[in-house]
Amino acid sequence: MEKMHSIWVTAIFISMIATVVAVSPIPTAGPYRSPELFDRNFYAGWRPDYTWLEDDGRTINIKLDNESGSGFQSKNTYLYGYVSMSIKLVPGNSAGIVVAYYMSSPRTDKIFVWDEIDFEFLGNVTGQPWILQTNLFANGIGGREEMLYLWFDPTANHHTYSILWNSRQIVWYVDDKPIRVYRNTCRTRARFPGWRAMNVYSSIWNADNWATRGGQDKTDWTYAPFVASYTNFSVYACNWEQPGPPPTCFSKSTRYWWDRPNRWTLNRSERSDYTYIRQQYMVYDYCKDVTRYPVSMPECSDRPW
Ligand SMILES: *[C@@H]1O[C@H](CO)[C@@H](O)[C@H](O)[C@H]1NC(C)=O
Ligand SMILES: *[C@@H]1O[C@H](CO)[C@@H](O)[C@H](O)[C@H]1NC(C)=O
Ligand SMILES: *[C@@H]1O[C@H](CO)[C@@H](O)[C@H](O)[C@H]1NC(C)=O
Ligand SMILES: *[C@@H]1O[C@H](CO)[C@@H](O)[C@H](O)[C@H]1NC(C)=O
Repeated sequence: MEKMHSIWVTAIFISMIATVVAVSPIPTAGPYRSPELFDRNFYAGWRPDYTWLEDDGRTINIKLDNESGSGFQSKNTYLYGYVSMSIKLVPGNSAGIVVAYYMSSPRTDKIFVWDEIDFEFLGNVTGQPWILQTNLFANGIGGREEMLYLWFDPTANHHTYSILWNSRQIVWYVDDKPIRVYRNTCRTRARFPGWRAMNVYSSIWNADNWATRGGQDKTDWTYAPFVASYTNFSVYACNWEQPGPPPTCFSKSTRYWWDRPNRWTLNRSERSDYTYIRQQYMVYDYCKDVTRYPVSMPECSDRPW
């Protein structure tokens, strides 16, 4: 692992020099236009028989019952980018259920240290609010959960959830409003995902041991199957098919708009949305949980911009 890491670091360094010298090369695939057909970037990798596409080819449903959950994932792996999709969550009684949408670097028998950026929707009994939980793993270390209530009913319509991941920050967006920022403060490389490519994943599964009121409300299988619907997929990102060399998407080209200076911090209107939403809707913040973390994680003292 250490050895592989240092090879990548060297490769990134070489490619940065190359980028400065050469005219920016075009990556093998992407950036893509939005919104895309599902098949363009994704496939159902977990129980395809529990998933089905609508006729428009742009909307996929995934289901959970007492036998299995299901899910899909991107065909490519990416280093930095902007990923977005619209999700309509399970209506009615959804206690115990988790609908997830996340980016994660591959984990295998040989690679067990990974990076991950999570959206996790925690279901609830009828009439009670879903919780949106976000989390981040850097170098295999997670435990960075935040939770908030949404300001709309996420089961009534599709709403857009996006991840902006660039060399300076990671931003979680709900309907284009930033709800969380994780910055690269350059103090330690291990703390910011920027050295491993990630796939995009979505899934629905049973987590009634913890999801709803800390595991008190169990999944009621008489309401199965539980179905979540996803549409309006867009992926603007640089492919990195490992173990190949990292992509050279770090140039100044406007083509790589997700990693331009205007996306390195939130702008004025985004800052005001961020502040308002967190004041009004936040339920849990690992940075404020002194019982769990008597000494808070280092990024807890970072400012969001
Ligand atoms: C799942 O539910 C179906 C229909 O209610 C039932 O027939 C089946 O036995 C259940 N399977 C398991 C593994 O509990
Ligand atoms: C479910 O509803 C209860 C009661 O309103 C609430 O305390 C809880 O935060 C809600 N969400 C989850 C995921 O437990
Ligand atoms: C999908 O995207 C289009 C174009 O951006 C938008 O008009 C439409 O409302 C979106 N649909 C959903 C269900 O989010
Ligand atoms: C702030 O950033 C968002 C997302 O990039 C953009 O849509 C919006 O126009 C920007 N607002 C201003 C005032 O620059």
